[in-house]
Amino acid sequence: MKQLGILLSGRGSNFEAIARNVASGKIANARIAIVISNRSDAGGIATAKGLGLETLVIPSKGKERQAHDREVVAALQAHKVDLVCLAGYMRLLSPWFVKQFPQRILNIHPSLLPAFPGLEAQQQAFAYGVKVAGCTVHFVDEELDHGAIVVQRAVLVHDDDDEHTLAKRILEQEHSAYTQAIDLVLNREWTVAGRRFFQMQKSEVRMQKSE
Ligand code: GRF
Repeated sequence: MKQLGILLSGRGSNFEAIARNVASGKIANARIAIVISNRSDAGGIATAKGLGLETLVIPSKGKERQAHDREVVAALQAHKVDLVCLAGYMRLLSPWFVKQFPQRILNIHPSLLPAFPGLEAQQQAFAYGVKVAGCTVHFVDEELDHGAIVVQRAVLVHDDDDEHTLAKRILEQEHSAYTQAIDLVLNREWTVAGRRFFQMQKSEVRMQKSE
């Protein structure tokens, strides 16, 4: 059984989708060990409590980034977390944090990266006039919205969309893309070559195991 650690700062709809899909077995072989927020008023923390999950608030205000990260990492390690899922966690991780979980931190971003990194990506895409928007689940590295891409989903922009209707359709895709990515990373054989994430074919897995 793999242990998931969720980090969030806000409403937590991606976390909720993950929790639902862990419970239904769509994300196989996993449990949510801990839900951590830097904000005590995060909706996701209330939801997690309601689901009977273990929660922890580690305020970030006034703390130096790495000092805060050390507290978060200590809590993740104490709960023997195998995979960290950022789900609307509004803090940039320090390089030190990233090093503690190599290729074991995922993030979801509401654009087709590398387009529109940073805040309000759906609004950025809408204002730019793109015809295809979407979302990306990627490994976290030292740069913002940057690591190897695990899953992407495209969302067509309709002529009658506004930034809210577009963001809503992107969010629906986020929920299922994140589940797919977590299940893949936990339960399939994969490799990262340069920036490219590959699921390995069965024959490659057999070869690697006999080496
Ligand atoms: C999502 O749009 C996600 O892609 C971005 O932050 C938002 C979090 O939403 N990283 P929620 O808290 O999961 O509802």
